Amino acid sequence: MSKSAFEALEPELLQRSSRWLVTGAAGFIGSHLIEKLLTLNQEVVGLDNFATGSRANLEHVRASVGEQKWRSFTFLESDICDLEACQEATKGVKYVLHQAALGSVPRSVADPLMTNRANVDGFLNMLVASRDANVERFVYAASSSTYGDHPGLPKVEDLIGKPLSPYAVTKYVNELYADVFARTYGMNCIGLRYFNVFGPRQDPQGAYAAVIPRWFETLCQESAPQINGDGETSRDFCFIDNTVQANLLAATSEHPDACNQVYNVAVGGRTSLNELFYSIRALLGAENKAILDIEPVYAGFREGDVRHSQADISRARELLGYQPTHTVDQGLAVTCDWFLGL
Ligand SMILES: NC(=O)c1ccc[n+]([C@@H]2O[C@H](COP(=O)([O-])OP(=O)(O)OC[C@H]3O[C@@H](n4cnc5c(N)ncnc54)[C@H](O)[C@@H]3O)[C@@H](O)[C@H]2O)c1
Repeated sequence: MSKSAFEALEPELLQRSSRWLVTGAAGFIGSHLIEKLLTLNQEVVGLDNFATGSRANLEHVRASVGEQKWRSFTFLESDICDLEACQEATKGVKYVLHQAALGSVPRSVADPLMTNRANVDGFLNMLVASRDANVERFVYAASSSTYGDHPGLPKVEDLIGKPLSPYAVTKYVNELYADVFARTYGMNCIGLRYFNVFGPRQDPQGAYAAVIPRWFETLCQESAPQINGDGETSRDFCFIDNTVQANLLAATSEHPDACNQVYNVAVGGRTSLNELFYSIRALLGAENKAILDIEPVYAGFREGDVRHSQADISRARELLGYQPTHTVDQGLAVTCDWFLGL
């Protein structure tokens, strides 16, 4: 069988080291990106202000890659709202993987100003700094929330509706700015519209935690998770390894049409919240039978939530060579082991 684009890229990267900047490095996705890049012998600068990320995530990466590879990592505790900090971070950098932002739809509904500062002002600082540092490619975390109220399924990149939350507005503004910077200054930008990423190290704590880590944590404590709505809301849940793959392919793709596009990053499937609940319960229940008796508690629908979400991933397949390695079930099994400390 022929190798996937990513299987071909990994040995290539091992042979040539480049300097990467990962913003949001102490967060869930950022910490997985730095882990993969360090494993592949890359030189990595990480930037984070610990707004939602943690030192523990960085320590996990350090333990996983070992002291020798860890020496290729430089961490800057700074804020992307500070232009000078962005300029400092982008010095000599070839590839930027911009992840720093305030996630969560409800957080943005509660405090749109705070979300806008990090996600729009901070994003623009990163674009300006990356332009001035002549980075080769600027890959950034976009979001499936940009599809807003468009009813089409599966979601194709060029058909979007109206944003349903302040968070979705900020992520759409990112795409508009990246597009304008590409046209006006000749930058190479790629937006990755993530669809509900999950995996080890995703924060289960707090009011704005994502559903998968929250339910693992709640069920581990033998409590009943809450489902917002009737449980038939569905998502294209995407395991973290698939997301990491998409970032590295986007940064390095030599396809002539790869740049100045946005791409769906998902698996192309659809899992309802009810199905998700029973899958997580079954995984944890294999270790602790008491969990198998827990039923979810149903509550009202949440403001700003999209009812169904499923990606068409053909653009990423064709132009980046993206091939997800993990189904939702495979990803949940890995995540379960992480929560159980296995
Ligand atoms: N997790 C998902 O399902 C998902 C889906 C769509 C888009 N995204 C986007 O992916 C990116 C990463 O998300 P994540 O799930 O890893 O979230 P996360 O909260 O774990 O990571 C975000 C990181 O950015 C840092 N950060 C926030 N504001 C900052 C600032 N002003 N300056 C410097 N650092 C700052 C945080 O401290 C955190 O470490 C975000 O841009 C998010 O909007 C995530």
